[in-house]
This record gives sequence, structure tokens and C-alpha cells, in this order.
Amino acid sequence: MEKQPMYEGKAKRVYKTDVDGELLVYFKDDATAFNGEKKGTIESKGVLNNKISTFFFNLLSEHGIPHHFISMPSPREMLVKSLEILPVEVVVRNIAAGSLAKRIGWEEGTKLPQTVLEMYYKNDDLGDPLINNYHIKMMGLATEEQVKIMEEYALKINEVLTNYLKTKKLELIDFKLEFGVHKGEVLLGDEISPDTCRFWDSETGEKMDKDRFRRDLGNVEEAYKEVLYRLTGEKA
Ligand code: TMP
Repeated sequence: MEKQPMYEGKAKRVYKTDVDGELLVYFKDDATAFNGEKKGTIESKGVLNNKISTFFFNLLSEHGIPHHFISMPSPREMLVKSLEILPVEVVVRNIAAGSLAKRIGWEEGTKLPQTVLEMYYKNDDLGDPLINNYHIKMMGLATEEQVKIMEEYALKINEVLTNYLKTKKLELIDFKLEFGVHKGEVLLGDEISPDTCRFWDSETGEKMDKDRFRRDLGNVEEAYKEVLYRLTGEKA
């Protein structure tokens, strides 16, 4: 019998498990962009993102960042701690790209003089608008303490990932994180993958992430595969 997902998102399905406090996440090949306006599939994306995320969660464990990842029971499945998601998306930026480049009129690829943190209200109906800490407090999306923890973790994650990726000849341009609460503790959730990060090849500047899909640049699957290969040596 097909198991019924308890939640289905754009790229993942979430199932209950027999264990209290643990959920099973299934990674789909579906890809969307521009708040679901553009739809497609990227062959094997689910497998690639699951494996890439697993790699990053394990790397973050070594640096003491608490997260929801427990294990990868199969190539498309991730076992995680259940989270009450804080409806805030945290974006960290090192180099101007995407919506920031557009908003402030800086050319894509301009190195930011300092790291920038942005908060977005996780709300599909509103198209995930940019908000600030006053909005978060005013709407009660997270407590001040939780915001402080998310900011601290986001900056630390940026440091860990940036340094690691450089050794694999990848530049971490920007990325998006989601957090949630498990047994009173704030944990990193969701995924860390070419869907949620921008990676550029250090030498050629070639885009190795979902922008290849968003902007119809071609070789989307190849780019995701190359990221997995550089991180783990696994040829998908
Ligand atoms: P942006 O430049 O479009 O605001 O994206 C910033 C980063 O956040 C980029 O690495 C892609 C990621 N991102 C998501 O993971 N989900 C989203 O819905 C959006 C808009 C961006």
C-alpha cells in the first residue's frame, strides 16, 4: 500500500515514521522556480540533493552545528528529527547575485564588502517576501532568542561551507537556510543543495546550481552531478 505523505512540498514529500519525533523526507526530481511559476524536472535531482545534503549535514556535525539530519536510509530518503519549522528563510550572501543584485543594482559577481544576512517570510501565497527582525518580532514568527541563534548558526555555517567548498574549487555565492524547533532546541532543517545554494566554479565562474534551471542555461543535471562528485568523489 502507498504510504500517504503527511506533507508534500514542491521538491520533497514528508512521511510519518513509527518513531515519535522522527520523519522520513523523500526527495523528488520536481523543480520549480519563481514561486512555482516555472515548473520542470531535473533527472536524478532527488538523489543528488539527498546525497549532497547528507554530505553537508555531516560536515556541519563536525563543526558543532545542530541539525535535523539523522541518516540516509535510501538514495532518495532522509530520516530527520521532526521540526516545528520557524516560518523564516535565512539567506546568507557573500557575492552579489539573484534578487540582491537586482534590488540594489549591483552587478552579479561583485564581492560584497561584508557578509549579508537576509530574512524572508516563508509564505508561498505572498511569494516569500523580504522582511527584517522587527517584522519577525511583530508577527511572532520567532522569538528574539531564536533569531539570535539562527543568525549565529547561519554565519558559522557560511564560514564552514565557504572554506570547505574552496578546497573543491567552488565559490559559495549565497544560500538559503531553514530552521525549526525540536524538543525546545533550534535545529537547522530542510536541505543544503544546488537547489538552495549558488555555487560557481572557482576558476571558470560557471554556475553549478539551480540557476542553470531558472535561467535555462542547460546541463542542469550535469552541474548537480559535478557538485556531488567534487564533494564526495562519487560519480552519479
Ligand atoms: P535569491 O537571490 O533569488 O534571493 O536567492 C538567494 C539564495 O536563496 C540562492 O542561493 C537560492 C536560494 N533560494 C532558495 O533556496 N529558495 C527560494 O525560493 C529562493 C527564491 C532562493
